[in-house]
Order: sequence, then structure tokens, then C-alpha cells
Amino acid sequence: MNNVLVSVAWPYANGPRHIGHVAGFGVPSDVFARYQRMSGANVLMISGTDEHGTPLLVQADKEGISVKELADRYNRQIVEDLAGLGLSYDLFTRTTTRNHYAVVQELFKGLYENGYMIKETTFGAVSPSTGRTLPDRYIEGTCPLCGADGARGDQCDNCGNQLDPADLINPVSKINGETPKFIETEHFLLDLSALAEALGEWLKQREDWRPNVLKFSLNLLEDLRPRAMSRDIDWGIPIPVEGWEDNPSKKLYVWFDAVIGYLSASIEWAWRTGSPDAWKQWWTNPEAKSYYFMGKDNITFHSQIWPAELLGYQGKGAKGGDVHEFGELNLPTEVVSSEFLTMSGSKFSSSKGVVIYVKDFLAEFGADPLRYFIAVAGPENNDTDFTWDEFVRRVNNELANGWGNLVNRTVSMAHKNFGAVPTPGPLEPADEKILALAAEAFDIVGDALAHSRFKQGITHAMHVVGEANAYIAEMEPWKLAKDESATTRLATVLWTAMQVVSDINVLLTPYLPHIAQSVHETLGREGIWAATPTVVDVSDDMPVEPVGVGIPEPGSSYPIITGDYTAQQATWARVDVVPGTPLSKPKPLIAKLDPELAQTGPAWAPVTSQ
Ligand code: MF3
Ligand code: ZN
Repeated sequence: MNNVLVSVAWPYANGPRHIGHVAGFGVPSDVFARYQRMSGANVLMISGTDEHGTPLLVQADKEGISVKELADRYNRQIVEDLAGLGLSYDLFTRTTTRNHYAVVQELFKGLYENGYMIKETTFGAVSPSTGRTLPDRYIEGTCPLCGADGARGDQCDNCGNQLDPADLINPVSKINGETPKFIETEHFLLDLSALAEALGEWLKQREDWRPNVLKFSLNLLEDLRPRAMSRDIDWGIPIPVEGWEDNPSKKLYVWFDAVIGYLSASIEWAWRTGSPDAWKQWWTNPEAKSYYFMGKDNITFHSQIWPAELLGYQGKGAKGGDVHEFGELNLPTEVVSSEFLTMSGSKFSSSKGVVIYVKDFLAEFGADPLRYFIAVAGPENNDTDFTWDEFVRRVNNELANGWGNLVNRTVSMAHKNFGAVPTPGPLEPADEKILALAAEAFDIVGDALAHSRFKQGITHAMHVVGEANAYIAEMEPWKLAKDESATTRLATVLWTAMQVVSDINVLLTPYLPHIAQSVHETLGREGIWAATPTVVDVSDDMPVEPVGVGIPEPGSSYPIITGDYTAQQATWARVDVVPGTPLSKPKPLIAKLDPELAQTGPAWAPVTSQ
């Protein structure tokens, strides 16, 4: 069995998702997972909301509610955003579950017992006026590594390196502009130096990664120092070490716990499906593959911190150690990272109003136009820009006039002239040529998808759309329809066009699952072609055996995204178009957008003159 784990970055539950977020982790991961399922892989796609750390504290302060209320509010909103886009998670959960706490503490304990969690005295920032500790993200200054201004205490967005606030040049508190005071504080550090060699060996065997991701990750190896995995913060997972467990102001670092979500969500999924050990097919089977999808600001944590946690937990660093409870866990096969999507030239920013929320987008345009835009024009290898002008142009010219029109006129003519899929006569070279082009596209697009080259895949599929439209223009079936002696030729041309439409629909299914379902029905077929996810409320009552304290009480309920994707018919192969299949008059597939939208934008995200 070809087991493929699709690990999708966990969005912070600090606000609704905007289209920049889903361009980075959402759409690419779903296109990949859907393609893998169609080609027969046993896929497990998991993620959830990331609910610890300062990003939530900052927002809870702003909204004047508790951080728990904030997490509940945006967990639910994000679940709706992502399910609405048709992202086919097997499980989308959250990091505040009992199970997640227990799994994180077990990983910490394993690392600690193996000697990879070292206790050190470091410098922590406090506000001189209030005496309260200042979380990393509240501190800004100049990056000591690249010299960029505006680096945060946890990370520099310019060079992507993780930082310690005490390293910043000219640190300033974002809360009130004062210069923080640094005082001595004890923390647990992940001993990356002791894991450097093992990390390097693993990383040097990685093939096929996007070159920028591999280069960035290899660069990180050059400066591997121990990194703090605990924080002076009261919101997070308690540290399972005596003397630390009950300390209300020391918790695990949000990134230590978030990446473990991939494992804990797999375990939760297995339990919820009634086979508690099923997660092992993706985690302890060395043949299994795992692909991690994210925006570029997350690379460090997936190509360095997470693999280091996994290596240390199974005793594979310079200090040796034992294999613990969960066994020898697989490291990532590939870290697939996107660049950034900007909006009319600016960075998305909820606070500055430069933002397009997924929920508004879905309500007005539905999921597939956005999925299409992200796949064809998104930030796969470079930062790219979203403009209403380009969105309208691509939806109208490519989706509606290109694909929608091809399906519509083909099926309309077949319905009008034959009422059913016609029986073809002998094929002519032009028919054979377009059929061959469509047949070859399965390998070409499939190869692109298997290597996460989504733009290349959809571009080729749309090339076949263009050729199919050219074929129809050349064959002029509307003229054949007027000539009684040409009925067989008309039948042949329309049958050929329908087979090509059916083929293209397979190629586009990972990208446009909702439209693909409609095309399936338009072709006179029944049942579920491309499955969509569902949202259900579940109770947090999974039995756990905690190794630490502070596990949330059982019984709270939360929404998850899940789905039965094995019930769908979609497979990566030609489906024969069967003569005689009854057809109905097709409904328009893809609504054309008002061209004025290109200039104005919608009322909820108007184009502003800059
Ligand atoms: N919450 C982080 C962000 O939005 C991503 C976490 S990905 C995880 O940048 F895997 F670590 F969970
Ligand atoms: Zn920097």
C-alpha cells in the first residue's frame, strides 16, 4: 500500500483566514492530496488550528476576551473557511485537545530522557514599567543576522531565521515603545548542536525539493545552536518535569507543540475511526511518504525543529538514547513551501484593512474560482500579487470562456442532436490527434502533481482545453448538424469532444473538485465523483495516559473537518464515454463576473487608489 501523509500547516486561531493564508498551505495541499487519492494512494491529510503562543494573546487583548474564548471563536471560523474551500482533510482538529497535550508531553519527556532537552539560564525580556514578562512577538528590533529592521523577537521575516529577543539590536516593546529589560530566566533548550549531524545526514539525502526550500534548509545547518523550547508565558502546554509542571508562568514554546500536531492529529484520527493503531501506517512504516505544506515563513520549523524533535525522541543524535512510546517515527519526505501572496502590491494585513477574507470570497464567488486563481497564478515559486483585475480576467477568459464553454457547447449539441452520448463512426486523424493529446496529458499533469508543480499541471490541463476548443472550431459541428448526410460525422465529432471533456475533467478534479462534480453530472453520470469534506461537532473525550499535568478536562466539544473520500469515483485514468448515455440540457457551469469588478473590486474589499 502506498501510504501518503499530507501534513498541512496549522493556522493560528487568531482570526479568520484570508486568501494569502490559503494560497500558502491550503489549496496546494488539497490539490496534492486529491491527486494522490485519485492515483490510488492511501492518503491521510491532517491539520488543525494552532491555539497557543503570543499571536493569540495579542488578539485576545485586542478583542477584550479570554484567550480560550478567542481560540474557540476562530477555531470554528477557520473550520468553516477551510471546509468551504473544499479542503479534504481526514481530520482538522486543534491544539487544545486532551490528546494533543498528552502527545506533546510524551515527546518532551522522550527528548528530555534522551538528553536533548537541556536546562539553561537565558535572558528573558520584561517590561520595566509593569514588571510583566514580554513575549517574543511583542519585541521588535534590528536583526542581528541580516541587519533588517522590524525583526520580531522570535523570528526575522526578512532572512527567515529564528531569533532570541535578547539578540535583537535596539529592542523595543511593541506595546508601549519602551526598551525591555532582560533578566535571567531558566529554560529548556532543544540541543540542536547534538542533533546537527543527524539532521545534516537526513537533509543531504532529500531530493526533488524545491530548490529554494532545500537551499534555505541547508543554510540553517551552518548555525545550529540550542534553541529554547519553553517560554515565560501562562498560555500553553505545561512542561512535564518536576518543579516545572505547576509553574503558572512557564509553558512549552508554541512551535514545540504545534509541529507535534501532525502526529497527535494522526493519532486522534485513528482513534475516531475505531482503529487506534491505524496512524502507524504513516508514521512507523519506513515505506510511507510524508509531505508538509506551508508558507515560506514556516520552513525553519519543518526542516529543522520538527525533524530534530523526531530524531532526538528516537535517540538518533550524538547523545544516543532510547526509542520511546511512539516508536521510530518517520521524518518528512518533503517540505513543500510556497512564497507569499500579496494584494495589489501590499502585504496582507488585517489591521491595515489590506485583506480579502476567505469567507467573503466564498460567499460571493464560491470555492473553485479562488482555487483556480491560486493554482494558476499563486505564489508557488515567487511572491505573486492578487488583483481583482487579474482574477476577473482569468475567471472570465480561462474558466468561463475556456473550460465552461467547452463543456457547455459540447454537451448542448450532443443533447440537442442526439439526446444522448452519440455513437461514433470511424475516427479521422483530427479526432485521433485530440484524443491522443488528452490521453497523454494524464502522465504529464500527473507527473507535475506528484512533484507539487501545481502551476505546471494546471497550465497543461488548460492547454488541452484550448486545443479542444480549437478542434471544435475547426470541425464546425454546428454546420454538420444542418447537413443530413453528415450525421455520422457529427456523432463522431461530438463523441470525440465528449471524451476529451471527460478526460480534462479528470485532470482538473484535484484543482476544481466542485466544478468537476457538476461536469460529471453534465456528462450524464451519477453518484459522487469528487468528495467534499464535512464539519461535525465532536466531544473531547479521547482516553489519554498523560505523563504530565494540566491536560484539559474532558467533555468540551469542538468542530472538526473530516470526510469519506474513499466513497468517491474519481481516479486518475480515462473514463470511457459510453454511447447511449442519456443527456439533459446542461446548466451554465461557471458564472462570468461583471467586468466592472476588475476596476472596483467588491464592496467588502474595494480597490483603493494607491
Ligand atoms: N501557526 C503557524 C503559522 O500560522 C503555523 C504552524 S504550522 C505547525 O505560522 F505545523 F507547526 F503547526
Ligand atoms: Zn534577518
